[in-house]
Amino acid sequence: MREEYGKLDKVDMSIWECCELLNDVVDDSDPDLDEPQIEHLLQTAEAIRKDYPNEDWLHLTGLIHDLGKVLLHPSFGGLPQWAVVGDTFPLGCAFDKSIVHHKYFEHNPDSKNPVYNTENGIYVEGCGLDNVMISWGHDDYMYLVAKENGSTLPPAALFIIRYHSFYPLHKSGAYTHLMNEDDVENLKWLKIFNKYDLYSKSKVRIDVEKVKPYYLSLIEKVVFPSEAEMVNVPD
Ligand SMILES: [Fe+2]
Ligand SMILES: [Fe+2]
Repeated sequence: MREEYGKLDKVDMSIWECCELLNDVVDDSDPDLDEPQIEHLLQTAEAIRKDYPNEDWLHLTGLIHDLGKVLLHPSFGGLPQWAVVGDTFPLGCAFDKSIVHHKYFEHNPDSKNPVYNTENGIYVEGCGLDNVMISWGHDDYMYLVAKENGSTLPPAALFIIRYHSFYPLHKSGAYTHLMNEDDVENLKWLKIFNKYDLYSKSKVRIDVEKVKPYYLSLIEKVVFPSEAEMVNVPD
């Protein structure tokens, strides 16, 4: 799936169009389904902007972190929920107990494979998360979109986008033995970000049209110099 969707070769779409398209998809794993996704994106971004006014890259990260959920949309191939949302976790090493619904891994042959079921598995301690295969989802997809389209987002922003559903790491502290020094630095920002991702889902209503110009200017000037090619729709 990563190979197929990593091609990013079928549809051109602007970041803002994508934010609006996200209103059409429902994330079954989201406990707060009664408001449009664009509100969640803007609530996250605006809450960060209030507390970190100078970190404009972090405002943008708030806006775009969930855009990979468009994989659920029919125009993006309509992937099933399990392939897009929910927590993510490493493959090729033991499944940590902190992974949600851990008990079901007993049906996964990897959990009985001696090459995979040790603490390090196929990895070397300290190898860096960049070298670790993480389960596929909206995180990794949006990371690929940002990276392949030459976004100028700093490494911490790409890290946040790529690992914000990796709850075993940033909530439970599992798999830290696989991190390198860069990961340790970036994880500090992910932990800050995560507070806003979760608790922005308060009922602060956002006037979308009022804040739109600010975010459009960030998208155009800083983040995506060329419009992003967002998706590969399988034939
Ligand atoms: Fe997300
Ligand atoms: Fe989110």
